Amino acid sequence: MRMSMTVNGTTQSHDVEPRTLLVQYLREACALTGTKVGCDTSSCGACTVLVDGESVKSCTMLAAQADGAAVTTIEGLASGDTFHPVQQAFHEHHGLQCGYCTAGMVMAAIGFLEENPDPTEREVRLGLEGNLCRCTGYHNIVQAVLAAADAAKAAR
Ligand code: FES
Ligand code: FES
Repeated sequence: MRMSMTVNGTTQSHDVEPRTLLVQYLREACALTGTKVGCDTSSCGACTVLVDGESVKSCTMLAAQADGAAVTTIEGLASGDTFHPVQQAFHEHHGLQCGYCTAGMVMAAIGFLEENPDPTEREVRLGLEGNLCRCTGYHNIVQAVLAAADAAKAAR
C-alpha cells in the first residue's frame, strides 16, 4: 500500500503493508530512528511524535491513519545547529540521563505546551504522565519544561 505524508517538511512516499504502524513507517521506511520504541503496550511514550501538530504515540497509530498528514519527529525540531527551545531547555536543565525517553518527552512537552503555555509544575507532571522515564529523571524533565515555558513567555 502506497502511503505519503510530509515528515519534517519533506514528502515521504513508501510502499508498506497496511498493518504498518506509524512508528515503523518513520523508523524503517523513512530511516528516522530518533523516534524510539520503548514498550509494546502503548504506555511509555518513547514513540511520541506530532501529527498535524498534536502529540500522538506513534505505536498506537497505523501509518495509514497518518496518510496525507504533516508529521514532526525529533529530527525535525532543530534548525541547523540551533535547538528548538524545548530541546535547549532539556539540554540546559539536564532533562535526560540515558536519553532513551528523551525524544518522546520533548515531543510530548511541545504538544503539551501548545495546549498549556503557562503551566504549573503539577500541570507539567500531569501533562507528561503518559511518558515514562526508566532512569526516573522526572525532576529535571519537569524543570526543563517549566524553563521552556518561561523562555517562551519572555520571548512573547
Ligand atoms: S513505544 Fe509507543 S508508547 Fe511505548
Ligand atoms: S533518560 Fe533514560 S529513560 Fe529517560
